[in-house]
Amino acid sequence: MTSFRRPASGAKLAVAATTAAAALAALAGATLAQAQGSTADEIAKYRQMLAEGNPAELWEAAGEELWKKPAGPKNVSLEQCDLGKGPGVTKGAYTELPRYFKDAGKVMDLEQRLAWCRVTLQGLTKDEAMKNPFASSGKPSDIERLVSYLTAESRGVKMNVQLTHPEEQRTYALGQKMFFYRGGAYDFACATCHAVDGQRIRLQDLPNLLTEKGAQAAYTTWPAYRVSQGEVRTMQHRLYDCLRQQRFPEAAYGSDVITALTMFLAKNANGGTYDGPAMKR
Ligand code: HEC
Repeated sequence: MTSFRRPASGAKLAVAATTAAAALAALAGATLAQAQGSTADEIAKYRQMLAEGNPAELWEAAGEELWKKPAGPKNVSLEQCDLGKGPGVTKGAYTELPRYFKDAGKVMDLEQRLAWCRVTLQGLTKDEAMKNPFASSGKPSDIERLVSYLTAESRGVKMNVQLTHPEEQRTYALGQKMFFYRGGAYDFACATCHAVDGQRIRLQDLPNLLTEKGAQAAYTTWPAYRVSQGEVRTMQHRLYDCLRQQRFPEAAYGSDVITALTMFLAKNANGGTYDGPAMKR
């Protein structure tokens, strides 16, 4: 997938979260214009946009605000949420997810854990906590913003997913099985498109997710600001897209099968330095 790494200096967008809406409206216009250029033109424009700062930074800032703001029936913030490294620890937490959580008695990925915290800390219902996982036009997603903030808190940290608990091993094995499971109208598995080097569909390179290099490059760059969509999209959204291409039934948001696939991909990416949210085509 076309993605660009952030310059070492990490030029920050000097836009406060409160003015994000106006800036995003302007960006959406720019995105439309870009879609009309040639691929080479587009790439040059992405590079320029990136030099000016990845728009994902707006999502990160908005997510941080949501994380720290008292909300829900209990009117408390999410700051005491335990993402696996203890209550309130956000730095590096994403690089160790999915993982087994004793309090929940199961393996959770970031998004399941986030919903868990919104329910247990803030008093939302599970439905409320899982509502609107993917933004549509004019309807931003709190989940995408929170995930952008939380993943950004792991930037520069190496992926370090463990398979120590039996449930973690079971989840990984399930993800692996799913990766090779063929089905649907075309009899495709994930492996049909993602287990060979140098395979492409049209102009898109299909990463080999079974190699360390392929898994690392893919996993460490999601979520990503998708220039073609003008939105930050999460790994869940990417997997939805792929399941659709596979003609598989849509998985429920936050379902265990998505966590299992995520576990498989994340573990295969161990050792890679997390560098998201990135920017992609
Ligand atoms: C019919 C082919 C096809 C199938 C089947 C498929 N994908 Fe994909 N996948 C793609 C395409 C196309 C892309 C986008 C590549 C690009 O934009 O350069 C992609 C991208 C991805 C990415 C992001 C790669 C990156 O570097 O950003 C991941 C992760 C991924 N797929 C995982 C999966 C998983 C897991 C499954 C099985 C549930 C799966 N895919 C099934 C075609 C497929």
